[in-house]
Amino acid sequence: MLRAGGLVAFPTETVYGLGVDAFDPAAVARAFAAKGRPADNPLIVHLADAGELPRVVASITPLARRLAATFWPGPLTLVLAAVDTVPPATTGGLTTVAVRVPDHPVAAALLTLADLPVAAPSANRSGRPSPTTAEHVAADLGTEVDVILDGGPCPVGVESTVVDARGERPVVLREGTITREDLGLRADGSEPGPAADVAASPGTRYRHYAPRCGVELAPAGGGPAHARRLVATGARVGLVAADPAPAGVVPIATVRDVPQLAQRLYAALRDAELAAVDVLVVESVPEVGLGRAVMDRLRRAAGG
Ligand code: TXA
Ligand code: MG
Repeated sequence: MLRAGGLVAFPTETVYGLGVDAFDPAAVARAFAAKGRPADNPLIVHLADAGELPRVVASITPLARRLAATFWPGPLTLVLAAVDTVPPATTGGLTTVAVRVPDHPVAAALLTLADLPVAAPSANRSGRPSPTTAEHVAADLGTEVDVILDGGPCPVGVESTVVDARGERPVVLREGTITREDLGLRADGSEPGPAADVAASPGTRYRHYAPRCGVELAPAGGGPAHARRLVATGARVGLVAADPAPAGVVPIATVRDVPQLAQRLYAALRDAELAAVDVLVVESVPEVGLGRAVMDRLRRAAGG
């Protein structure tokens, strides 16, 4: 199906991707149209292993070699200089290309069998929460996609960390599970030197992850109290918190730690919609490690 120019949704460790042949501009255009995605927002090209890099990357920097050896397969995307045969449709007209090797048995089998670099944005309608189950993909793109490979819920739940790896030090363009600390950077993002002013990845400009209900952040441990106050105003309120929902509040998810919140976050946004709540209250987590990526996605869901 990929070789024929089709759209194949597949699970990765982070979220489901909407896969197309990265070298087929017509297929890439179909993926953009299916998602309703702005054309200037480039795609991540997925590879079976790091040995495939020369198919899409013109110059593999020592930093890229090091990061690939440490984190692949895994949720780290490297932005590098593209070979000039990668279609502008895939790169959004940039001279760079984003690449990663996903850590999921279904993705690995697909990439190996197809023997193609596979461009894959997250398999949601543009602006919607990213899909972490095959059902989420079907709900957003069921009529557009040719095949959905169902691998069950994605284990990580938030998208890969995107890093510019062209220089000597990684520059984080999108936060993810591979944290600044993992990359040997300062946790607060205050790196010294010239790399700091590099533009964020184009996709982070757009409003994202927005469910069709309100989203409000509560302080850590303050979710149930915040939810009860909203209920008192007559609202139908859902809760994602460490403690169970009190009476009168719709339970959406009880999460014991940050990795579990990350894994369930997008499903919780969609479940809150299906439960027809007016507002979903989510407890904040400390902005260190994976907590930075989770809070980034939550603020976007809450409308900035
Ligand atoms: O975990 C993930 O990364 C998932 C799975 C399916 O691999 N994919 C994903 O794709 O999140 P998407 O299209 O939703 O997000 C890709 C991000 C966007 O923010 C985009 O702007 C950025 O990567 N990006 C792609 N190519 C880029 C480039 N050449 N330079 C800078 N940012 C780039
Ligand atoms: Mg996306």
